[in-house]
Amino acid sequence: MDALEVEDLVMHFGPVRAVDGITLRIREGTVVALVGESGSGKSTVGRCIVRLLEPTGGTVRLAGADITRLDRRRLRPHRRNVSIVFQDPAGSLDPRLSVGDIVGEPLRLQKKARKEVPEKVAEALRRVGLRPEVAHRAPHELSGGQRQRVSIARALISEPRLLVADEPTSALDVSVQAAVLNLLADLQRDLGFACLFITHDLSAVEYLADEVAVMYLGQLVEQGPRRRIFGSPAHPYTQALLSAAPVPDPAEQRARRPVLLGDDLPSAIDPPPGCRFHTRCPVAVETCRTVVPEPRTIGEGGHQVACHLVNDDGTGPDVRLTQGVAR
Ligand SMILES: Nc1ncnc2c1ncn2[C@@H]1O[C@H](COP(=O)(O)OP(=O)(O)OP(=O)(O)O)[C@@H](O)[C@H]1O
Ligand code: SF4
Ligand SMILES: [Mg+2]
Repeated sequence: MDALEVEDLVMHFGPVRAVDGITLRIREGTVVALVGESGSGKSTVGRCIVRLLEPTGGTVRLAGADITRLDRRRLRPHRRNVSIVFQDPAGSLDPRLSVGDIVGEPLRLQKKARKEVPEKVAEALRRVGLRPEVAHRAPHELSGGQRQRVSIARALISEPRLLVADEPTSALDVSVQAAVLNLLADLQRDLGFACLFITHDLSAVEYLADEVAVMYLGQLVEQGPRRRIFGSPAHPYTQALLSAAPVPDPAEQRARRPVLLGDDLPSAIDPPPGCRFHTRCPVAVETCRTVVPEPRTIGEGGHQVACHLVNDDGTGPDVRLTQGVAR
């Protein structure tokens, strides 16, 4: 049984097709990075998984239990299995509560014995590298990095099987980003929770993730083991995203140029027909304008890609080497 199974997930906001049919699994104790440019729907996927949003379609299973349509009351027993950490620790912590109340709240919602709570809160704070005395402070008295540690402590206090971390370090001062990232990596290894790690930071993906899922305009274009995605990305969009990341082989590095995708992401209200990426793909062919490429398995570890030009063995165009190819 997987920690998370998402099948054909759809989330529309009126005419906005923010998420349009995503299938994704996270095995127990593993980290899946969800990447893709701004507006591609990553946070919306995260919010559906923790049921801050009720999906328009598809299913979300947490540790085997279908939570897609549960109402508030029936959701409660499943809440402790999943937590979320947001990008902005200032906005996600209630300023009227003390740190101790914030961190202990999930336990109170679970109706844990009142006298157990302070000890568990102290332990949770210690685990994220904060002194237990911090419990008596207000969130605004802490630094950004400390506040994000508080949100992590709160997210993990109920010992969830799955953590959704939505750009957990990108709002922080550069000088503390690495420390918070290291903390997350250590906690994940020690506590063994599964994690959906949403990020723009490709070096963080290389450091933390077991698998990578690449999102474009509400859909996944490629997913698979991290080494395969970084070593031999098959989808032109993945190649373009990774083209900015340096590679160890100097000859290969010289042969590559960052792929500039030019114009912005098309609107999620009226996505392009056929392959959604065809309006920006440097190697698009006529078929791409009309025929939707379905995800296909192209290799070990569930490496999947949705592109007409990728062969069954994963070979195909490399847009990093084919600059200026006319469409
Ligand atoms: N509550 C909402 N109502 C209407 N549209 C929304 C809502 N939430 C998100 N959207 C739209 O859905 C699309 C996906 O947004 P989302 O925030 O999931 O993207 P993202 O990949 O997380 O972007 P970023 O990297 O900037 O955080 C965008 O077009 C966004 O404007
Ligand atoms: S299907 Fe066509 S447009 Fe889409 S990524 Fe592949 S080559 Fe490019
Ligand atoms: Mg987001």
